[in-house]
Amino acid sequence: MKRLFYFLLLIVLIAFVAIQFVDRPEKIAEPVTENDIIEQLNVNPEMAGLLKDACYDCHSNQPKYPWYAKIAPVSWTIAEHIEHGRDELNFSEWGTYSKRRRDHKLEEMVEEVEVGNMPLPNYVLMHPEANLTTEQFEMLKKWVGEMREQIAQEPDGE
Ligand code: HEC
Repeated sequence: MKRLFYFLLLIVLIAFVAIQFVDRPEKIAEPVTENDIIEQLNVNPEMAGLLKDACYDCHSNQPKYPWYAKIAPVSWTIAEHIEHGRDELNFSEWGTYSKRRRDHKLEEMVEEVEVGNMPLPNYVLMHPEANLTTEQFEMLKKWVGEMREQIAQEPDGE
């Protein structure tokens, strides 16, 4: 009985070590370009800090990787969040978005945070600084309003 237990434990350990060699698929440390939203919209430092602390780990090409994010299978879940999050909204590529898309994404940002979908709740558990305070949410809302007004002034068809 005991030998079977050790044998199974060994199998689990080998499997754990083996999965560490499966590649993480995503890009994580791309250079910041002029397409970044902070650059594009000349975002003030406070608002930029909020986006970086609460959103950039899944919605940019520069996610920060804590040590546990490198260990499979946790790393797979994190990679999945990043890939999926970036597909929907990548702040590093803001400058490539159409007028309509930018406006829509700004609108969604407030909505998603308001209902508690964003930042993802399990992320907030590990990153308390990403849990927006009421003041931070108000700041986000105000900023989004200003940016959407600015977008409305742009000529159509971009
Ligand atoms: C832990 C990863 C993670 C963090 C942190 C995160 N998001 Fe997301 N976000 C996702 C994923 C994954 C999706 C796509 C799936 C979904 O909608 O649940 C998404 C989708 C979105 C969408 C939907 C886009 C659309 O058009 O439907 C918006 C808007 C958004 N996030 C805004 C934010 C904002 C704003 C923050 C910071 C306050 C943030 N997210 C932080 C992972 C994250």
